[in-house]
Amino acid sequence: MKAAVFYGPKQLLKIEEVPTPEAGAGEIRVKVAACGLCHTDLHYIDSGVPTFKKPPLILGHEISGTVDQIGEGVTQFKVGDRVLLPAVMSCGTCYNCRTGRENICMNMKMPGNDMDGGYAEYICAPAKDAFHLPEEIPLVEGSIIADAITTPFHAIKNRAQVKPGDTVVIMGCGGVGLNCVQVAAAAGASVIAVDLLPQKLEWAKQFGAVATINPKEVDNVAKAVRKLTGGGADIAIECIGNPKTMEIAFDCLRAGGRMTIVGYSEHAMNLNASRLMYREMEVIGSLGCRPVDYPKCIELARTGKIRVKEMVTRRFTLEEINEGFDYLRSGEGIRGVIAFE
Ligand code: APR
Repeated sequence: MKAAVFYGPKQLLKIEEVPTPEAGAGEIRVKVAACGLCHTDLHYIDSGVPTFKKPPLILGHEISGTVDQIGEGVTQFKVGDRVLLPAVMSCGTCYNCRTGRENICMNMKMPGNDMDGGYAEYICAPAKDAFHLPEEIPLVEGSIIADAITTPFHAIKNRAQVKPGDTVVIMGCGGVGLNCVQVAAAAGASVIAVDLLPQKLEWAKQFGAVATINPKEVDNVAKAVRKLTGGGADIAIECIGNPKTMEIAFDCLRAGGRMTIVGYSEHAMNLNASRLMYREMEVIGSLGCRPVDYPKCIELARTGKIRVKEMVTRRFTLEEINEGFDYLRSGEGIRGVIAFE
């Protein structure tokens, strides 16, 4: 089969012929329809964040496709079924899994990090982790549900605990932030979106934001939010991964407010501890999504309450994958995918 192989940081991915994997016991083989291009891949390619499986490695963790081969003992899928593979597969047996926190599984396996991923014609995965993808969801665009939709869903529903009527500031309207906008809006929140790029703010409005702020156009983002909300937002979600914007997000909150950090940064942030204590502020991290929430995301996409088709602004062939990563780096679009059909 053809695959895009990662050999190490600061190198282009190479398109190569590699052996087609065979489904083992309990596994399905998926003929990949699409695999979303994600910033996590850029962490490996551009920033040298190490992958758990040493290169050569096939990257890619937002995978949709059709079942093409059934391993021994698999009964819940048949050849031809449309499926979504989750971005992270949990062990089901560690302490975190047994206490309902599979998204922080101590033995988690991620396609395109711990094992070969979806920038290839075929991938094998445990059947227990795969989800049926209904006909109403387009197969190519449906790929982004794994991660681009599920990560915001977990952040908004479980970590930020957004409720109808909450005012929610979303810092950063890239692929992650815009999906936070649409999930929070679907949950009944009044969303204020913040981004430096006018196009991103335009998309944020289309996906349900009631107000937008461009930091280039105001003296102080937190002040602008406090003015719009009559004292501060209930919830702030940081979707950039910058300690400075985390601090600004915190300043946007009213007393008793909650900040959820979805953006990734290896650096420290500076928060006023007395304010944290005296105003009962909450600061919470959010990572990925539990399997239990995938069917909810699929149902929201099936019924159009969450839009996936509009989120995919460009398709690339496997051979165009390095161009696809340039598109991601440019920040021009929302989400690009490698499409095989
Ligand atoms: N103020 C406001 N917006 C900003 C600022 C800033 N200072 N700096 C960057 N942005 C905006 C960018 O214009 C962009 O629209 O933040 C957005 C970031 O989006 P992407 O770069 O597309 O990143 P995304 O894929 O959405 O991921 C965001 O979440 O999962 C993590 O690792 C991921 O840290 C990353 C974060």
